[in-house]
Amino acid sequence: MKQRPLIISPSILAADFSRLGDEIRAIESGGADWVHIDVMDGHFVPNISFGFPVMQSIRPLTKMLFDVHLMIAPADPYLAQFAAAGADLISVHAEAGPHLHRSLQAIRALGKKSGVVLNPATPVSVLEHVMDQLDLILIMTVNPGYGGQSFLPSMLEKVRQARALIGGRDIDLEVDGGVTAKNAGEIYRAGANVLVAGSAIFKGNHADQIKAIRNACATLA
Ligand code: DX5
Ligand code: ZN
Repeated sequence: MKQRPLIISPSILAADFSRLGDEIRAIESGGADWVHIDVMDGHFVPNISFGFPVMQSIRPLTKMLFDVHLMIAPADPYLAQFAAAGADLISVHAEAGPHLHRSLQAIRALGKKSGVVLNPATPVSVLEHVMDQLDLILIMTVNPGYGGQSFLPSMLEKVRQARALIGGRDIDLEVDGGVTAKNAGEIYRAGANVLVAGSAIFKGNHADQIKAIRNACATLA
């Protein structure tokens, strides 16, 4: 099975919020492909991050795809507002509501790409009957809620399972949590093609870190 092109999606959760515009420009000039935007509600996950006003304020700064990871429940009542605030891809957790199929239909009806996020304990099988509604599958490799946690190696097998389920379909496979230049190669080799990284990119020289992650995958491609 041919691997899809590598996409690096830095998570701005780890950015310096007092200089967010500069941080966006630094990842763009440093070679990032997408911007990963973590929205947390203090209810679905035990932390609160940011929402519409922050997204709106950075939207004019870049044409990079806004990869919006909703850690909120319910998500459905807010999908239209996230679309209007500049999201290009909206991912909801499989656990966020009782009607996953309907949530995905709603995202696509807004003209946006749709994604489903799986918590570490959530099996890939939950996706079997929504594959035709999906543009992206996001495998959490930490428990959602915080940046800077350690990658859970047991999730590599889940990445392989998701890759097998995707087969030849036009669906991206994303991994989020604890991704570094050290483990990026094995994650990519397991079949993920979109790598989210927060701390690894924003806590160092952004361009160097992005390049290190890309190189780690290139040697194994
Ligand atoms: C965690 C978020 C992640 C987080 C990743 O709930 O979904 O996107 O920002 O941060 P790192 O790369 O530091 O684990
Ligand atoms: Zn995320």
